[in-house]
Amino acid sequence: TEQELRERIQSVRSFFGKKLVVLAHHYQRPEIVELSDVRGDSLQLAQYAAQQTEADYIVFCGVHFMAEGADILKTGNQVVVLPDLGAGCDMADMADADDVIEAWEQLVEVVGHESIMPVTYVNSTAALKAFVAKKGGVICTSSNAGKIVDWALKERKILFFYPDQHLGRNTAKKLGIPLESMNLWNPKKPYGGLEKENILNTKVMLWQGCCPVHMMFSSKQIDTIRAKDPEFKIISHPECSMEVVDKSDCAGSTDFIVKTIAASPAGSKWAVGTELNLVNRIAKENPDKTIVSINPFMCLCGTMNRIDLPHLTWALEQIKAGTPKNVITVQEPDRTLAKQALARMLEMSV
Ligand code: 13P
Ligand code: SF4
Repeated sequence: TEQELRERIQSVRSFFGKKLVVLAHHYQRPEIVELSDVRGDSLQLAQYAAQQTEADYIVFCGVHFMAEGADILKTGNQVVVLPDLGAGCDMADMADADDVIEAWEQLVEVVGHESIMPVTYVNSTAALKAFVAKKGGVICTSSNAGKIVDWALKERKILFFYPDQHLGRNTAKKLGIPLESMNLWNPKKPYGGLEKENILNTKVMLWQGCCPVHMMFSSKQIDTIRAKDPEFKIISHPECSMEVVDKSDCAGSTDFIVKTIAASPAGSKWAVGTELNLVNRIAKENPDKTIVSINPFMCLCGTMNRIDLPHLTWALEQIKAGTPKNVITVQEPDRTLAKQALARMLEMSV
């Protein structure tokens, strides 16, 4: 039963004490968040992992690229475990490193490397984080995308943004880049399916990737909510489409959404465009406000949800048995390069 699993988890946790930490992303199931030491967004958790000098084990309840982030930023020999290896990020999987590097080479052939700046969204493999370190590029998160993209646009003529076209488009648009100066790179076609002339006239090249969860929100749903009750304010994540972000009262990262709603006055009504576990938790933590999802039916992140009580119990008991499974290790040279790129991003975001 659930109760038995909880007890087995607690038993391993008390056996290890501070030698083992469990981190949970905001999108995790409520029971997983409840049993973890800390919850946060992907960057906060990677930074927390870096401070766990006393721990021997870091159990990361999130998706694969986040566990890689913890392994990259850790400061000791901690073993990082992802309770289910099937917990990937569909968006990160849309940008295969070889495909991105191939695209980069084609772009460089057309415009020259001094004209193009690669920007890797943190939802990506370690190989792509390492790639930007080699090319003078940067990593960004949804919290610092504005600052990083602004810098990149000033540094070089063309910005190459991947994997998420929506975060790239929404961020560049907010900085005043006209839509006509943005182009979509189709990884399945030579030169992204674009004419060379077109590439030369591009300011922002967007990879054709997206988050299927944040694609479940539409501007029509927002219209319906407002028609029923105009008091609702709309807040969305910038991984949503441009139409949704443009129709929202405000848009921003996970951390921004949590803090904006928490700071709003009692009685406020919010319709939120982000993952449902998080929206439900915000609703629970703000009982004096009305919090709903823009689309309450289809917006759980399936891979985040793969981590459940049976997987967490299994992962912890394997550690206790001395046979940790699903250990996430980023190999050299990617590890050192990705660490440099993340450190640079942190310096640039303050
Ligand atoms: P954060 O970087 O805000 O944690 O977001 C991760 C994510 O997967 C958003 O969909
Ligand atoms: Fe990836 Fe989207 Fe899930 Fe976030 S919500 S982990 S971007 S698939």
